[in-house]
Amino acid sequence: MPPGRGGAWPLSFLIESLTQLIEILAFSPADTPDLETLLDAAFGPARRNRTAYRLRDGVACDPALSFVARDAGRLVGSLQCWPLQIRGLSGAIAPLTLLGPVVTAADRQGEGIASRLMTTALAAIDALAAPPVLLIGDAPFYGRFGFTADATADWLLPGPVDRARLLLRGPATALPRVGWVEPAAPRRRAA
Ligand SMILES: CC(C)(COP(=O)(O)OP(=O)(O)OC[C@H]1O[C@@H](n2cnc3c(N)ncnc32)[C@H](O)[C@@H]1OP(=O)(O)O)[C@@H](O)C(=O)NCCC(=O)NCCS
Repeated sequence: MPPGRGGAWPLSFLIESLTQLIEILAFSPADTPDLETLLDAAFGPARRNRTAYRLRDGVACDPALSFVARDAGRLVGSLQCWPLQIRGLSGAIAPLTLLGPVVTAADRQGEGIASRLMTTALAAIDALAAPPVLLIGDAPFYGRFGFTADATADWLLPGPVDRARLLLRGPATALPRVGWVEPAAPRRRAA
């Protein structure tokens, strides 16, 4: 895009260009120390008491569906996904993918980093035909990526949850209308 009138570059173009310099990389366990610092800064140490943590306690994130954003080596964003399942009234179990936390460094928010992480992760989820994606988050942000609370009103979690923030992406036709959301069984056995 050429400079605007007077030789000035439009702000939107400059922000877009800066964002493109940020690398989106597959999550590696080596990212963990930087990521813990970023998450503590964003959510505080009490984040470990959140219901979402009970869904992934002792579980490793899925490295094929988890990504970090680095700018000149600095960790500026992250998105992780985890195996999950829902158990219906009949006892039947259906797999889910838990998405989150999504975080961008406070001084880098509004540059499109979380959106790039979301786009990358959802593309990987679709390419790998991963199970339907559940998250706990703000519908005004995640709605743009296809998440709604329409199917989750009667899903129970191992802790309190704001119903308006329990969001599923995609059709729920193969999922129970009423059920218990819990960590994926094989990994829970290993914990
Ligand atoms: C939410 C968060 C991840 C967004 O990251 P980001 O890199 O700033 O997001 P992007 O730049 O890709 O997108 C910015 C857009 O999202 C919107 N947005 C950001 N947070 C929002 C929220 N909580 N609710 C609604 N919209 C939100 C912005 O208004 C902006 O909208 P626009 O594109 O229409 O201008 C970031 O604010 C953050 O880390 N917050 C603290 C941690 C958190 O709350 N994580 C989400 C729960 S897991």
